[in-house]
Amino acid sequence: MQITRCTSVAELNELSSEYIINDLNSRPKSLFCTATGNSPTGIYRLLADKKDLIDPNGLSLLKLDEWYNLPMDHPASCEYYLQQYMILPLGIADENYTGFNAMAKDPGAECKRINDFIAAKGPIDICVLGIGLNGHIGFNEPADFLQPHAHLTVLSETSLNHNMIKSSGVDMKYGLTLGVADILQSKKIILPVFGKNKKDIMDRLFEGKISSQLPASVLWLHRDVTVFYCENDS
Ligand code: F6R
Repeated sequence: MQITRCTSVAELNELSSEYIINDLNSRPKSLFCTATGNSPTGIYRLLADKKDLIDPNGLSLLKLDEWYNLPMDHPASCEYYLQQYMILPLGIADENYTGFNAMAKDPGAECKRINDFIAAKGPIDICVLGIGLNGHIGFNEPADFLQPHAHLTVLSETSLNHNMIKSSGVDMKYGLTLGVADILQSKKIILPVFGKNKKDIMDRLFEGKISSQLPASVLWLHRDVTVFYCENDS
């Protein structure tokens, strides 16, 4: 795990966006897996600002996770977020975007569709994650065991209290997420993290003890993870 400490969120966003652009431009076609939430927003804004440096036809996006049963056009959905920050600004065509359908009647079949997609088009070239206050990545929540592939999960209190969903007042119970093996298959992973509220979980992560109770700790098993970390809120 490579840890790059940043003194400001602006620096974190700049370094992360440069890292992503360099990686995308190192191959003709990339599968880019994207988390949503507060952590990557500034990075995605910079990618949009620098879109002339990115070939939208050389890029396929894969959504990391989604709130199950939240309409896809709901402003709190991961779908809405990605449309707003990535798909529209970067001009990603429909055929170059894949993500969980939150409204799928059969979540098992929906997860199989995503697993089949990864089997056919994977592995992911570059994956941007975020870490939850409880150490989750995607919606892989702390538990006695972790799941390797796309699955429906019961959301933790931490996820249900995330400002993205909490402020919308919608009652959620389940999430759809890639599993830890899907994430670990990525060629490169970046984890941007900032803010005082993340200090405790980052201290635990940096201890380097791998436990299913701290899902992000599986990142210690990967040979190309870069953490961009700023302890400050700005
Ligand atoms: C969202 C996701 C989550 C978040 C995590 C951190 O797509 O995968 O695991 O990355 O909850 O959220 P923020 O960045 O809002 O603190």
